[in-house]
Amino acid sequence: MQILRDSELRYRRLFEAAQDGILILDARTGMIEDVNPYLEKMLGYSRKEFLKKKLWEVGAFRDIKASKEAFEALQENEYIRYEDLPLKTKAGRLIQVEFVSNVYQVGDEKVIQCNIRDITARKQAEAALQLLNTELEKRVEERTNELRNAQEKLLRKEKLAVLGQMAGSLGHELRNPLGVINNAIYYLKNIQPDADAQIKEYLAIIELETHNADKIISDLLDFSRVKSVNSIDAESVTVSDLVQRTLERFPAAENVDVTLKIPENLPAIYVDPYQVTQVLGNLVLNACQAMNNGGKITLAAKKKGNMVAISISDTGTGITPENVENLFEPLFTTKPKGIGLGLTVSQKLTEANGGRIEVKSEPGNGSTFTVWLPIC
Ligand SMILES: Nc1ncnc2c1ncn2[C@@H]1O[C@H](COP(=O)(O)OP(=O)(O)O)[C@@H](O)[C@H]1O
Ligand SMILES: [Mg+2]
Repeated sequence: MQILRDSELRYRRLFEAAQDGILILDARTGMIEDVNPYLEKMLGYSRKEFLKKKLWEVGAFRDIKASKEAFEALQENEYIRYEDLPLKTKAGRLIQVEFVSNVYQVGDEKVIQCNIRDITARKQAEAALQLLNTELEKRVEERTNELRNAQEKLLRKEKLAVLGQMAGSLGHELRNPLGVINNAIYYLKNIQPDADAQIKEYLAIIELETHNADKIISDLLDFSRVKSVNSIDAESVTVSDLVQRTLERFPAAENVDVTLKIPENLPAIYVDPYQVTQVLGNLVLNACQAMNNGGKITLAAKKKGNMVAISISDTGTGITPENVENLFEPLFTTKPKGIGLGLTVSQKLTEANGGRIEVKSEPGNGSTFTVWLPIC
């Protein structure tokens, strides 16, 4: 008897001093039989408010719809554990607890012991850590991007230096043989008007690719020349004249509709017409290339202050914001057969003529390139 009393006393002391909340329930009825001081303090309910009630009748547990079901599950399984259960204290503060229940046999009776540990601080620390981690990951990603961009820039600069040296001579050397090939195609087409379909098809391929190669050579030559545009042959020209010359020199693709919106009363501008048609032609060509399946180009013009804006809008692919930032970088291209010099050259030529180029674009919704030029 003495031994039993001793062990009961020891248990009592543990129960009273525990730094976890403990509840003892009658397993059969679910009534709370005992509660330790730590849990009273944690949840802010007095011992009286716990005793002889069912778990879900105590405020803190009332909101938990699952309480009753959990109790039933507990009766069946004799063990239940919640890693992270939100509870509300009597004062209305939300805390997070770890909740573990076991069923014990005591003599003839079964009791349930619930251990409830406040893990709010741990959860908050975990959340703070998670936040820090995310922040850190973001910073690493940003830094990696910066490095990648810097490296790409460096690479482009190196390529550019080499290209600058080679562009001119390479362009000249290639232009002649290409001219010969072109003449040969023309000749073959002339002497073989009735050639069979396959020969015609291959001739067309050679012609198209020669044309593509010629465009690349033009870009190279323009680039080598434009590196130091110091001579411009400016004269007074009208915008409609310039636009007309552009479309003659650089006709739009067959599947593209061109609409002109050039007001009659625009003042003349003072530019080098050859260079400006070059610029507008590059923009028309890019617009056509952005509309592989056909579309519409609108060439419009307006006066603002002492400048005239000539805009070329297309209904093509549009440009992503990241790409917009790089458009004028030499060698920036997204085309398998492009070399990415067209816009660099166009910008240089426009600036040499006292103007500037602006871009507005939305992916999927076409682009507008606007060339601002000075009036006379
Ligand atoms: N009208 C346009 N619509 C969509 N993308 C365009 C347009 N104009 C230019 N771009 C983009 O700008 C890039 C650079 O153009 P550019 O300097 O002319 O070089 P290239 O035509 O050889 O690629 C193109 O590869 C393309 O991604
Ligand atoms: Mg181009």
